[in-house]
This record gives sequence, C-alpha cells and structure tokens, in this order.
Amino acid sequence: MRYIPTPSTKELLAIVCAEDIQPTRILDLCCGSGWLAEALAERFPKAEVWASDIREEEFSTSLKVKWNQGDLFEGLYGKFDLIVCNFPYVPTGLCGDSEPRIAFDGGIDGFDLIAIPCRASQVFTRNKLPSCD
Ligand SMILES: C[S@@+](CC[C@H](N)C(=O)[O-])C[C@H]1O[C@@H](n2cnc3c(N)ncnc32)[C@H](O)[C@@H]1O
Repeated sequence: MRYIPTPSTKELLAIVCAEDIQPTRILDLCCGSGWLAEALAERFPKAEVWASDIREEEFSTSLKVKWNQGDLFEGLYGKFDLIVCNFPYVPTGLCGDSEPRIAFDGGIDGFDLIAIPCRASQVFTRNKLPSCD
C-alpha cells in the first residue's frame, strides 16, 4: 500500500526545504515508512540519508536511504548535519485504536519522547541545532 504522508510530515519537509542548507549526512529519526527520508534524499541527492525506527516492518525498500532499526539513536553512529524527527505526539487519552499505539502515543501530554532526541542530538549533530517537528 502506498504511504500517504500526514500534514505534519509534509510540513516538516517544507520547513527543511525552506532552509538555505546543503547537509551531507541526514537522519530521519522515528521514520515510519521513511517517506520523509526518501523526500530528503531527492532534495539533497549528494547527501547520505539515514532512516531509523523502532519498528522495521514499515520500512520502504528505497535504495536511496540507509535503514536502521533501533530505539531512538540505538545502532546509529557518527555525526549528522541534519536530524528530523516526527515523533509520536498524540496525548494518550486522544489515541484511537486504528493505528499501532507505538506510532502515535506520546504519553500524557504527547511530549514523552521528545526530550531524549533533543538531548541526544547534541551528541549526534555537527552544529548542535536539531530540527524537530
Ligand atoms: C508519528 S509516527 C511518524 C512516522 C514518520 N516519521 C512520518 O512522519 O510519517 C512516529 C514513529 O515513531 C516510531 N517510534 C516510536 N517510538 C520509537 C522509539 N523509541 N525509537 C524509534 N522510533 C520510535 C514509531 O514506530 C512511528 O513510526
């Protein structure tokens, strides 16, 4: 089935594309199918683009992207110029049953998962400026 990106995913792509940057190493953290990583690989064809998610069953088969299955930064190495992350952001009480809970449940206020990527990105970025949705 072809993946249809959510408005927040498309918005994140638009934010990155509006920047005057030429990243050489990009990470799409919590990538899901990797739609965003693939779009960034097309936008920045010379960049090495990584996509990582705790679940690998939805990874697309794109050869433009290097895939990693892991919990947040687990299994990743080296520095990135750009990290994008559309993390699970829905408050628990508003989560429905139509999607796997791990994909959207962001805890009581929806922000459970964001602190760790922000702190860890200090280690994984060259410029210490994470771009998070
Ligand atoms: C809101 S979805 C976003 C998917 C994709 N980035 C997009 O924009 O369409 C959040 C994703 O985070 C992943 N995820 C949840 N907890 C994670 C964790 N601890 N480490 C890595 N990925 C995680 C889920 O499997 C899901 O694919």
